[in-house]
Amino acid sequence: MDKRSITVTVNGATRTAEVEPRLLLAHLLRQGLGLTGTHIGCDTTNCGACTVLVDNTAVKSCTMLAVQTDGHEVTTVEGMAKASELHPVQEGFREEHGLQCGYCTPGMMMSAMALLQRNPDPTEEEVRWALSGNLCRCTGYQNIVKAVLWAAAKMKPAEV
Ligand code: FES
Ligand code: FES
Repeated sequence: MDKRSITVTVNGATRTAEVEPRLLLAHLLRQGLGLTGTHIGCDTTNCGACTVLVDNTAVKSCTMLAVQTDGHEVTTVEGMAKASELHPVQEGFREEHGLQCGYCTPGMMMSAMALLQRNPDPTEEEVRWALSGNLCRCTGYQNIVKAVLWAAAKMKPAEV
């Protein structure tokens, strides 16, 4: 199959790749770019383990073709922390014990990032709705929701 050259900004860095038109974004990230923090749990758009941000919108990368990201920005879990400083969403998962086996965690954190970018002060119900496309087979939902609310509180600008 003919390959096509695409240029994608991944976690702030420009990456160029030769890809088959049928290649899924999840496979480009994991196998093409070595970003294995993006997990694959179902390959059928059900579990959300593969969630990444494309132009700051949460998408399931097993449901998007790599060629569709040509000229766009992709953020994966590897792009959350800055130097040695965790992102508040990552801190929230640590503080509130928001993970057990950790398989769903990257996707959960990406969906949480997308939520907090468009709604910095969500209610618990809004957090639950935003994460409703992400499944946790360990059923750790209570602490995951607490983790996102913890992050929202931390990211809130100080009141003067
Ligand atoms: Fe993409 Fe499950 S691997 S939704
Ligand atoms: Fe195990 Fe969510 S922590 S799947």
